[in-house]
Order: sequence, then C-alpha cells, then structure tokens
Amino acid sequence: MKIISTRRSQVLAGRIADLLQKPLVDVRWTRFPDGEIYLRTDEISNQMVIVGSLVESDDLIELLLLTDVCNGSEITLVLPYMGYARQDKQFNPGEPLSARIIARTLGSGVNRVITINLHEKTIIPYFGIPTTDLSLAGDMAAAIQNFSCKSPLILGPDIGAANLAYDIAATGGWESDHLHKVRLSGIEVRIEPKEIPVKGRDVVIVDDIISTGGTQATAAAMLLEQGAASICTVCVHGVLASGAYTHLKSVGINQIISSDTIESACSGYSAARIIANALNR
Ligand code: R5P
Repeated sequence: MKIISTRRSQVLAGRIADLLQKPLVDVRWTRFPDGEIYLRTDEISNQMVIVGSLVESDDLIELLLLTDVCNGSEITLVLPYMGYARQDKQFNPGEPLSARIIARTLGSGVNRVITINLHEKTIIPYFGIPTTDLSLAGDMAAAIQNFSCKSPLILGPDIGAANLAYDIAATGGWESDHLHKVRLSGIEVRIEPKEIPVKGRDVVIVDDIISTGGTQATAAAMLLEQGAASICTVCVHGVLASGAYTHLKSVGINQIISSDTIESACSGYSAARIIANALNR
C-alpha cells in the first residue's frame, strides 16, 4: 500500500502514512501555460490510498487526475472534506443536486471511499461503491479536554449538530443541548431565542462545518447575552470563508479549532488516527 495526496491534504496524508508506516508517493505539480493542472508521480503500487479534500474546484480536478494515475490499482479514496455536500437536495426548481454528481464522479474511478463527518448521510449511496463515513466526535472530545474550561456545556447550533454534540458530551461526561437555526441566506442565519442555563458556564459550540462563521457567531452572541462565562468553538471542517476567523474572534469567541480535514492554522486536532484505523481494517 502507498499513500498519495492532492496538494490540499499533504499534511494529513503524511500523518496517515506515518501511522500506517506506508510510503507517501512524491508528486510534482505544475500547470500548463493555459492554466490546466499537470502532475507526475513516482512509482505507484497495486494498492493505493488517495487523500484529498474538496474545498475548491481545482481540488476536484486534482482528485480526478490522481484517480487516473492510479488506474489499475485497488484504490481507496479518502475524502476528508467533501465540498458541495450542503447542496444535498434540490431546494428550488432548476438547482443541481450537487452532492449527487460530485459523489458519482468521484466514486466512479475508485473501489472504496472514506469520508469524515459527511454533511448528510443521505449522500453515501451516490458514491455507488462501499463508502464509510467516520465521526471525529471522540477526537473533538479529546481536544476539548485540553481547553481550560470546567465541565463545559457542549452545544450544537442547530438540530443537524445535535447528535454530534451529544456524542462529544457522552465521551467527555459532559452535558449537551442544541439550538434551532433558521438560514436566511448563504451568509445570514437566525437562531431562535432559547433560554439555556448558561449563566457562568463555559460553553463549547460544536458543528460539522464552520464556513462564514455566521452560525457560530450568532449563537455565541446570544449565549454571551444570556451570561455564558466563555465560548469556544470546535468544528470538524474549518472552511473559514470570508474572514470567518476574525468574525468569530470579534464576537468574543475565545478559541476556534478545527481538524486537519482542511489544513489551516486552526487545525488543532487530527483526523489521521481514525482514518489510519479504518484503512487497517
Ligand atoms: C449547516 O447545516 C452546517 O452544519 C453548518 O452549520 C454551516 O455550514 C455553517 O455555515 P456558516 O459558518 O456559514 O454559518
């Protein structure tokens, strides 16, 4: 087995390779004069693990090119973050079901897919091949243990994050709750007023994705207004679009950490261990 990665997921791929004690394949990346991506790899093996998150369109091209380079091998695609997963329904007439076409496209050239906290489990069948979605709830709980908060309240900002909050809280032996969010636009959300006994409490808001930070910021403002002592936030996928980090700090959130499914300075814990374990099975 060898591990190969897109440019976006090099560090995570290196961590997985170290844990499995398997070689990383060297890839030289460049562009043709017209901007098209070109790559050339060292020797691949008959069992390949491709690691690459899809955040921007070029990531998809890199994944497809790597899939083709590995053609003929048994391929496991590790897709730590799957962009376009939030368009998992045709919410309005005339819209694509983006998650479906992305999953079908990526699933077509590989033998198996591993995802991490996929936005919606209903996407899994679209890959059309055996697909395992792993949860980082345990690793998030371990990251929260390192915060200086005492018996934190673990809060999901919407119903979609309620199970994640529950699982993290169960691992750490803490309490959990969730809020109700109404999305007004791509950048605006409303959190329904809800009285939660947060006065004097350290609150950790957890979610699968922080994109613009609107969800977390709106929830944090309400909780601070209700007397929370401190707010930290832990997500799986730190997209951190549109100045999200500064937005979150400016509303008074103390710590903002994400995993390395999207590598950034906020990556405070790693998905490598759980992925390596799944690849070993
Ligand atoms: C949506 O259902 C997701 O779980 C996140 O809550 C959402 O993607 C966060 O987006 P933003 O940071 O832009 O509010």
